[in-house]
Amino acid sequence: MSSAPPNQARAGELRQLLQRAAHAYYVLDAPEMEDSVYDRLYRELLELEAAHPELITPDSPSQRVGGAPAEGFSSVEHRIGLLSLDNAFTPSDLDAWYSRLLKVLDRTGDLAMVGELKIDGNALALSYEQGLLVQAATRGDGERGEQITGNVRTIASVPLRLQLENPPAWVEVRGEALIPDETFAAINAERAARGETLFANPRNACAGTLRQLDPKVVAARRLDFFAYTLHLPKDTPQGPSSQWQSLQWLQAAGFKVNPNAELLPNLAAVQAFFSAWDTGRRALPYATDGVVVKLNDLRLQDAAGFTQKAPRWAIALKYAAEEAPSILLRLACQVGRTGVVTPVAEFEPVPLAGTTVSRATLHNADRLAELDLHAGDTIVVRKAGEIIPEVVRVLSELRPAGAVRLELPQVCPECGSELVREQGEAATHCVNSSCPAILRGALRHWVSKGALDVDGLGAKLIEQLVDRGLVGSIADLYGLDAALLASLERMGTKSADNLVAALAASKQQAWHRQLYGLGIHHVGEVNAKALAKAFPSAADLATATASTPESITAVFGIGGEIAQSLQQWFATPANQLLLRALEQLGFPLAAGPEEPGAISETSLTGQTFVLTGSLPTMSRSAAQALIEAAGGKVSGSVSKKTSFVVAGEEAGSKLSKAESLGVAVLDEAGLLELLKAGSG
Ligand code: IVH
Repeated sequence: MSSAPPNQARAGELRQLLQRAAHAYYVLDAPEMEDSVYDRLYRELLELEAAHPELITPDSPSQRVGGAPAEGFSSVEHRIGLLSLDNAFTPSDLDAWYSRLLKVLDRTGDLAMVGELKIDGNALALSYEQGLLVQAATRGDGERGEQITGNVRTIASVPLRLQLENPPAWVEVRGEALIPDETFAAINAERAARGETLFANPRNACAGTLRQLDPKVVAARRLDFFAYTLHLPKDTPQGPSSQWQSLQWLQAAGFKVNPNAELLPNLAAVQAFFSAWDTGRRALPYATDGVVVKLNDLRLQDAAGFTQKAPRWAIALKYAAEEAPSILLRLACQVGRTGVVTPVAEFEPVPLAGTTVSRATLHNADRLAELDLHAGDTIVVRKAGEIIPEVVRVLSELRPAGAVRLELPQVCPECGSELVREQGEAATHCVNSSCPAILRGALRHWVSKGALDVDGLGAKLIEQLVDRGLVGSIADLYGLDAALLASLERMGTKSADNLVAALAASKQQAWHRQLYGLGIHHVGEVNAKALAKAFPSAADLATATASTPESITAVFGIGGEIAQSLQQWFATPANQLLLRALEQLGFPLAAGPEEPGAISETSLTGQTFVLTGSLPTMSRSAAQALIEAAGGKVSGSVSKKTSFVVAGEEAGSKLSKAESLGVAVLDEAGLLELLKAGSG
């Protein structure tokens, strides 16, 4: 045996010591090494690697952080698709699931199951080759996800190398990334101190973190990861034959497996597990929204198979949303960018589903009237994980004597002009186009990510600009000078200069972003893209809305709502003034040379496709891209207006619907032929 040169041997030894210590600390939660010793060994490794870069290996602890910020994330196809789970909420849902399972398997009696906590985080797919972590991706649409390997490498409980003597050629691991409650609170406290917007809950914070371009930011957020699914090559010797063994395999390979999983012999045990965790979960340091029950035997799992989107052999048992009583203090009103007035209840703060809640939406005037709210009322507030809080009912028997009924004001709380409610509409509007609330909303929308994407113009700054009368329209943003901006609260010369530069640069943004940024009702990002393609300038679009609204509906194939909304928008004098002002500022309001502009008519223009089932050679997103490139549209549901349904293997209800409506059905080959004909 040849012995390694001393530096190489020492580097190997250090890696092993550090890796073992980190595993004990982050995965087993049983520290083995003093922090100071760890730090010393880590520094020694860093110095050795700095002097001999050839000694750096991909699984070195030094390689967790240090990646350069990414430009964006690429999309990758999952080796094995990530499925979702069907939900059950009641014992009878669970019974029904179990009966179906017995029937499909043609069995009677007890089936052993594994009960796991349903971690309320974000699913990740990790790929290992020859034992090394080579890729980590988000769930995405289940077929393709975003490749976020650099970010996932920073998660201390994700092994960079499997702790196995002879790792299989490839290993696919699925699990949940999460931010523990305490870390979440610390992140939000820091954000509050910096005047940044707060994350709504740990799950959102985790999702946002995983999509951070800079792995250093991810590292600082201290994410955690629980592994729960294992896929191995078919011929792997001593591969697990049950979910329980899979969890043990994962643990032995160095993953953190949630310690609360249990092997459950029958349905009664499942029910007890579920009930026990309904209270038990409150003491956990992270959020769970239910339990996941999985058939234990992998061969039986195979036999049970899948429905359209979920395995038959597993089910998520979800806990009901949390409710809590509180005392109603007052009614506030929010005026949105389109002038819609939303009543909001403000009440004594209550802890609910992991956050403290003191405001809840009342949706609209009808809902407000239905609840019959009075100041001082005891109300019941509900919140489920990521769902926004709501007032569910009023305990009117507890109403204090003489309590005053709460109603929507007659006038806009922001500008004092009279509020309008059109007949047959739920929404109440402020129709004053210079209402400061509407203006603030319009400005926020204009600079948002999907629109002009201007950095450095946050809600607080917009508020100052509007409140001080410095900005009365979108166009006014472009007349702001750096000296004036620098004099505002929490601004400095540097940030003011950057903002002026960012605004100037935004004039070069694509035409569809400008169109979306105008905030026209019904013109979201997708519609703006389609419109911008068909009408390569604002002038074209204005002319079309006024003279040939059918040319607009032709782009969408459906509904005059968008056409009508565009017509109204372009006919409004204030909007005409805005367009003229933007033009004078140098906005082209038209497709640039590198943008496609109007696509030429193809035989697929105006045709709507629905994709269902899995196609033999193409992923669904690839098929969609091809159809769209040829001028067609892809929609999610089948109607009489659908031109074609493209059906693959295991196509389900969409196919039967197409057949019953007499919509033409194609297979992959048929689609390809049509595309070829369309381009010719
Ligand atoms: S198993 C086919 N196990 O819940 C297997 N999922 O609603 C599908 N989740 O996308 C996943 N904890 O993000 C599984 N112990 C657990 C889980 C779990 C949380 C999430 C996962 C999945 C979603 C489905």
